[in-house]
Amino acid sequence: MTKRVNRREFVLSGTAAVVGAASLKAVAAGAPPPGQAPVMMVKKSVKPVVISSNNGNIYKNGGDITGVAKAFNLMIGGSDVLDALIAGVNLCELDPADTSVGFGGMPNADGVVQLDSSCMHGPKKRAGAVACLEGVRTPSLVAKAVMESTDHHLLVGKGAQDFARNMGFPIEADLNTERSRKLWLEWKRRADPEHYLDPIKRSAAYYDAGLQMVKDGLIEFDHFWGTINCDGVSPKGEICGVTTTSGLAWKIPGRVGDSPILGAGLYVDGAIGAAGSTGRGEANLYNLSSFLIVENMRRGMAPKDAGMEALKRVRANTVEKRLLAKTGEPLFQLQFYVLNAKGEFAGVSLFPSKYAVCTEQGPQSLDCEPLFPNRPAQD
Ligand code: GLY
Repeated sequence: MTKRVNRREFVLSGTAAVVGAASLKAVAAGAPPPGQAPVMMVKKSVKPVVISSNNGNIYKNGGDITGVAKAFNLMIGGSDVLDALIAGVNLCELDPADTSVGFGGMPNADGVVQLDSSCMHGPKKRAGAVACLEGVRTPSLVAKAVMESTDHHLLVGKGAQDFARNMGFPIEADLNTERSRKLWLEWKRRADPEHYLDPIKRSAAYYDAGLQMVKDGLIEFDHFWGTINCDGVSPKGEICGVTTTSGLAWKIPGRVGDSPILGAGLYVDGAIGAAGSTGRGEANLYNLSSFLIVENMRRGMAPKDAGMEALKRVRANTVEKRLLAKTGEPLFQLQFYVLNAKGEFAGVSLFPSKYAVCTEQGPQSLDCEPLFPNRPAQD
């Protein structure tokens, strides 16, 4: 039934199979066979998959299944792909045990939880995002509302919250949990003993205090920058993606990372694939890595190679001493989750870590392909 007619895989309908070779060549070039109605060109079925950062296969918000499994089941059941992915990441956003996303996400330096999210719909070629959103547990749903109900891409701060309220989202006074509040207090105690240092020293002290808490086992290395990215391709080859985060733990209020910025925290091209990230947003923003990865795939690279190429670019563009270990590796983590229109996928990272995937075989956590074999020494 199937016949490869060019680089992009198509299946010709049965009637086309009986036409002569010359006509078939013409059909392949887009012309109908002589005397017939235009032949229906149907994209060959792809292997459906949902991939995400590893928290997508950990948190269940009190239910039975993880985010990637929920998204995959909904997608296979015929839900819109983006709706399915967002329902998956909602589990992380709502679960207070995930301190990197939504309710219970690490607050900023003032102890306020500010959330960022973006989403992108491949078939509709639409996207939406919010940044510095306070008081709404599910910023991914507000990003989708921006996509569907406005002519804009990105709403921030109070404007984003007012929009969410107008769209019917409940606004809460505080998204901290007891755990996130206590961790913030511990960080404050470590970072700001004299209250004000000069700005450069203060910024270094903030960062160092956070990394020291990672070293002390209070925060996971992969969660200092928070975030879940989740991307999926349906059996029909429809591709979407969503990224949602509480951002860098104890960030300067108003700081926005890569998650809500198209081309950085997320990029989808419905004909090519999707890429998204978790990890140090600034390193990703300087390279617009998700866009770069999708463009690498457009030029023919496999998902893993496309992602590794972006990590090498990030590594090459990281030159400030404060960001490098004595041995030369970056002092931060960055991961990319990548899939293409055929359903091939990969997770890649600067240092060893896991990512989540759900296929017809069920959900699993897999090793990311690391650029460096070991995490850098933090001192
Ligand atoms: N990647 C999440 C952030 O840097 O905000």
